[in-house]
Amino acid sequence: MENKIVYLNGEYLPLPEAKVSVLDRGFLFGDGIYEVIPSYSGNLFHLDDHLQRLENSLAGIRLANPHTRLEWQAILTPLLDANYDQYIYLQITRGTAAKRDHAFPENVPATVFAMCSNIVPFAGLNAGVKAISMDDTRWSLCHIKAITLLGNILHRQAAVEQDCAEALLVKDGYLIEGAASNVFAVIDGVLCTPPKTNDILPGITRDVILELAKKHNIPFCEDKILFADAQKATELWVTSSTREIVPIIELDGTDIGEGKPGPVWQTMHTILQAYKQSLL
Ligand code: PDD
Repeated sequence: MENKIVYLNGEYLPLPEAKVSVLDRGFLFGDGIYEVIPSYSGNLFHLDDHLQRLENSLAGIRLANPHTRLEWQAILTPLLDANYDQYIYLQITRGTAAKRDHAFPENVPATVFAMCSNIVPFAGLNAGVKAISMDDTRWSLCHIKAITLLGNILHRQAAVEQDCAEALLVKDGYLIEGAASNVFAVIDGVLCTPPKTNDILPGITRDVILELAKKHNIPFCEDKILFADAQKATELWVTSSTREIVPIIELDGTDIGEGKPGPVWQTMHTILQAYKQSLL
């Protein structure tokens, strides 16, 4: 196990010493939420947006936010190393009650855990990746960044077992998102992504891409995407904080567009890298 320093309930500890009770509701019920926040050269990327989503997730599970935004920044900053591109994993559970009971415990402090890892540049980025499609079997509150990820895990694992990087989830004939990513399609020259509803996680990378598309006059829309239209799209991408923008070149064994990363992806990838640099 790595010997890095992690944060747990007010203390900074070597990872092997960070221990949580087996009665923690995260362990027993998956009763908690999380955030993944990238950091470039020691600068947390869009921290306010991540902390806003954290607040929304906490409100979604009716758990009080244990810290102010300034406190969160003070907690996370010592975990960073400015020599690397990294990401913070931050998890908050409903704490450790005296006994296992589905209903919320009273007067139990939340468990707060945070660790930092280096971002390993995603190998499939420049060549593009393969994906499968699957019926979305997750629950109806996908806008909450819940640690209860069994649905997502089973989808991603199915993709991995078919030598694919991601599973694209389909509901009622519409493309929703990836198992651990948002999705974009270029259809008739327009960059499209599904709107923010309870069906998707409101990705920070997604929002940044839409902002950049607007700024650089790239035609875009936030609208439902028929899966049949996605299959015929000239480009398909999945986006997330740790992998950024990944072009999908093959879906369910069939080429997307010309079977290689497309020009809109190349443009947006370049714009995103320049934008990241501009924030340093
Ligand atoms: N996942 N949708 C789902 C289901 C996700 O799990 C993620 C990210 C996203 C993209 O959100 P963002 O752009 O804010 O990273 C969309 C993270 C990286 C994870 O679970 O590790």
